[in-house]
Amino acid sequence: MEALERSLKQTVKCGSGDLSIREIHDRHHRVALASLLDRSFGLSENSHFLDDFPIWDPIYGARVIRAGVFDREELIATAGLRLSEWKLANGERLPIAVIGGVATDPRFRGQHIASQLTEHLCTIAKEKGAAAVLLWGSQHELYGRLGFKLTGKQLRVSLGQLTTECEPLVAQIRTGYHLSIFEQALRRTEGIALSNRDMGWYSSHRNVRWVWTETEQGQLQSYIGIGRGIDLTGIIHEWGG
Ligand SMILES: CC(C)(COP(=O)(O)OP(=O)(O)OC[C@H]1O[C@@H](n2cnc3c(N)ncnc32)[C@H](O)[C@@H]1OP(=O)(O)O)[C@@H](O)C(=O)NCCC(=O)NCCS
Repeated sequence: MEALERSLKQTVKCGSGDLSIREIHDRHHRVALASLLDRSFGLSENSHFLDDFPIWDPIYGARVIRAGVFDREELIATAGLRLSEWKLANGERLPIAVIGGVATDPRFRGQHIASQLTEHLCTIAKEKGAAAVLLWGSQHELYGRLGFKLTGKQLRVSLGQLTTECEPLVAQIRTGYHLSIFEQALRRTEGIALSNRDMGWYSSHRNVRWVWTETEQGQLQSYIGIGRGIDLTGIIHEWGG
């Protein structure tokens, strides 16, 4: 992580001059970060970005660099970079990076601050050996200008349209987070690789409704995750077993 910190350049340019970039990792700056993210995403008083995207919460430190742009001492923009690996179907692992939690205070928008910060994080990712940088977002124009290519779209299918021709399941249905859900996610053979260091943020999704079944021996058998607060409302987005 130290090496990552040293990679952060010092400034971004904006209309009123240069603004400093620093890493956010202490408790004091976390409060400012949480507030900036909530304000930028236009959340209501009871919704909090970091509750729904704990992966970008600096307290979990899962190979994440949380960059902040400061106007004197005020945090006015942020973006996160996570170094990770992609598990390929043939068993190989590709070093990748993920960018997320990109936000600029509404007062400072349109001055290319988010663009410069994202571009800089991409440079760090490349220096660290990432073969690709991924992000999920709807600002296709903004990210397109930075070289990102659209590789997929989220498809939402109503469960009401599916036919159920399977035998009814006889099992105990439980709700709430269960540690074995993370253990199952660790064993996935494809997609972004997780490790034990990811347990903290993975277990801290406050607004995912987990539903699972267990075997007669009390072991987790199957699970789904529904909704994620401000995101994926009413949608099953995680499942396994
Ligand atoms: C998206 C966001 C980070 C851009 O910040 P910024 O510092 O103003 O960005 P830049 O000045 O570098 O780039 C501005 C470009 O962003 C795009 N953009 C900004 N807000 C947008 C929005 N709500 N929807 C789509 N595109 C948007 C525009 O293409 C704009 O291009 P233009 O300069 O040609 O008009 C900022 O609007 C924000 O915080 N939005 C809310 C949080 C969010 O949606 N984050 C992205 C999650 S991946």
